[in-house]
Amino acid sequence: MAAVAQARDLPGRSGIASAHPLATTAGYEVLRDGGNAFDAAVAVSAALAVVEPHSSGLGGGGFFLLYLADEDRYVFVDAREVAPGAASPSTYLDDAGQPVRAAALNGPLAAGIPGLAAGWQHVVDRYGRLPLARSLQSAIRYAEDGFPAYSRLALGVRFRRRVADQWPGFGEVFYPEGVNPEDGTAIVQQDLGNTLKRIAADGAAAFYRGELAAKMVDGVRAAGGNWTLDDLARYSVVERAPVVTQYFGNRIVTAPLPSSGGVAITTMLNILAGYSPAELTGAQGYHVIIESMRRAYRDRAEYLGDPAFTDAPLARLMHPDYATGLRAGIDLERATRSAELTGLWPEDTESRQTTHFSILDAEGNRVAATLTINGWFGSGFIPPGTGIILNNEMDDFSLAAANPNTFGLLGDAANAVAPGKRPLSSMSPTFVESDRGIAIVGTPGGSRIITMVFRAALAWMAGANADEMVALKRFHHQYFPDEVVHEPGAFSPEEFQSLTERGHLLRESRRPFGNMNVVTWDYSSNQVEAASDPRGAGEGRVY
Ligand code: DON
Repeated sequence: MAAVAQARDLPGRSGIASAHPLATTAGYEVLRDGGNAFDAAVAVSAALAVVEPHSSGLGGGGFFLLYLADEDRYVFVDAREVAPGAASPSTYLDDAGQPVRAAALNGPLAAGIPGLAAGWQHVVDRYGRLPLARSLQSAIRYAEDGFPAYSRLALGVRFRRRVADQWPGFGEVFYPEGVNPEDGTAIVQQDLGNTLKRIAADGAAAFYRGELAAKMVDGVRAAGGNWTLDDLARYSVVERAPVVTQYFGNRIVTAPLPSSGGVAITTMLNILAGYSPAELTGAQGYHVIIESMRRAYRDRAEYLGDPAFTDAPLARLMHPDYATGLRAGIDLERATRSAELTGLWPEDTESRQTTHFSILDAEGNRVAATLTINGWFGSGFIPPGTGIILNNEMDDFSLAAANPNTFGLLGDAANAVAPGKRPLSSMSPTFVESDRGIAIVGTPGGSRIITMVFRAALAWMAGANADEMVALKRFHHQYFPDEVVHEPGAFSPEEFQSLTERGHLLRESRRPFGNMNVVTWDYSSNQVEAASDPRGAGEGRVY
């Protein structure tokens, strides 16, 4: 494909877009000191673990999508959490067999075995140029010297405090003596700094074995969790082939299972591919896009889970003929009711954190990384003496059929809890490639990640630049609940009316959604752009 041939030229410039200026700076300093995009990715991730502690960190995991320019090869590094060996569906059911959502959201039982440290080591060892210790330097400094709190972080502390109050460790760092941080309050994380220094000295092994591992396990168990030393020692990263999809001469490289993103994006694009560009404009275009979302999320709920545990019919779900069948059920004049589709059926809550960053280096290497501890400040639990905020990724499993998780997502056996299993994710780090150039895309936003990335990809293919992609007004349908949730201004009054007349229930979101970070490289102008979501506090910079 022309896109690949041209991609072998060098951009000559690098771009980093991340959710915090200090993280973007950390990545830049590593590039400046001879690191490549992969070293920079570790530096950005480590910095975010400190300065965006409500979103991602050592207590969580995530996905790194890489493009190795000199080999013209894609790699997907799966550093997703896994369920502890003692976890089973009954861990999250009460005596009457009813799901206990709080157990999967709050405190140590909510935490899967983290993957981020192993992910850093893997990325650096296989693809980086600098020692891991170099890429952790800025993060260590930010942890020990402190950084100023900002509104998103302060809001997260207030939101999570009721849960975190149950254990002392979190409050000691984020609201010492009971005082919530305000904008500008210095957040110092000495224990986290020590933890990072250990990893810098001894590698990820220091996280998964030895004293630090023992502290985590002891802390978790003392607070009612079920981790074992063996769970940590057995954690391993998995390298996977990304999902690659074609759409009108564009190539989309995105996340495979255990993310549902690649399958869902493929389904939605395959559905759209059966319409002419003219049919996809205006309210009718939005209608078709919403209907494609509805169908992709129905399949997500029914079929998808960790591929090591469940055989999803991927070849079928991603086949163009399957999309033809789905398309046949779309009425251009009327919204399908989700309950009319075969599948699972049984209200929506909000809880939003996670982070995404995009990097392009001057040699053309790329990283799209979406990393998370799931909810705001994850489980709200820090094992004493570690500074590590544990995730609450166990809520990404389906605790029971027809029982929506915190993002309103349904699931079934394919995504049931099992020891060592990875919970199904929506995180979708993505590359969009066309003759025009490439876009490195991703965002947090729970269930809405997939549709945000999907629409940003459509926007890039339609000619948008990085700033336009991150600013795009968002809307989303996820099969259940049967509604289109949208940002103010996503639809014109005429479009709103036309969609309502078709039978869509439109609900305006109370808060903006997502925090997208995009880097693009336009081959013809050789322009590199880096843009961070206007909804967030991040920064895109081109060097
Ligand atoms: O893996 C997932 O799909 C979720 N744990 C991501 C959570 C998230 O994006 C929260 N966001 N704002």
